[in-house]
Amino acid sequence: MIWKEKYRIGVSMIDKQHQELFRRVEDFIVNLRSSGKWEDRQEKVKSTMEFMKEYVVVHFRAEEEYQKKINYPGLAEHQRIHAGFKEEINNFAQKFEEEGYQEDLVQSLAGKLLAWLINHVASEDQKIGSYAKSLGGDSNEG
Ligand SMILES: [Fe+2]
Repeated sequence: MIWKEKYRIGVSMIDKQHQELFRRVEDFIVNLRSSGKWEDRQEKVKSTMEFMKEYVVVHFRAEEEYQKKINYPGLAEHQRIHAGFKEEINNFAQKFEEEGYQEDLVQSLAGKLLAWLINHVASEDQKIGSYAKSLGGDSNEG
């Protein structure tokens, strides 16, 4: 399991979405490491890309809305980081469209997704949780 309890930021809506992202990325990686024909495993790549393109937008929007709600001072910077990641996903999607699901490109996507997700959730998103906690009250109502 890639998800760790320490990744929780203490805002249940965001934590649930993060867990779903971790679950999907893990599923994707397990599939990539499995044996069997590459052609058969490409379906998983397609569905993961479809999911990522949609869910990342939904999740980033929700996370940014929450930051607005609590007047999080790092919102602009956080939005910039989110926008950069969305662009990377879209670049991969574009390459897949042009070149097909090349195995090395897919492997590099998997590495990138995992590294980004862990780094982002373990550091940048934690700051949102700390800020929410510093306000007192129940951050889980967000
Ligand atoms: Fe974030």
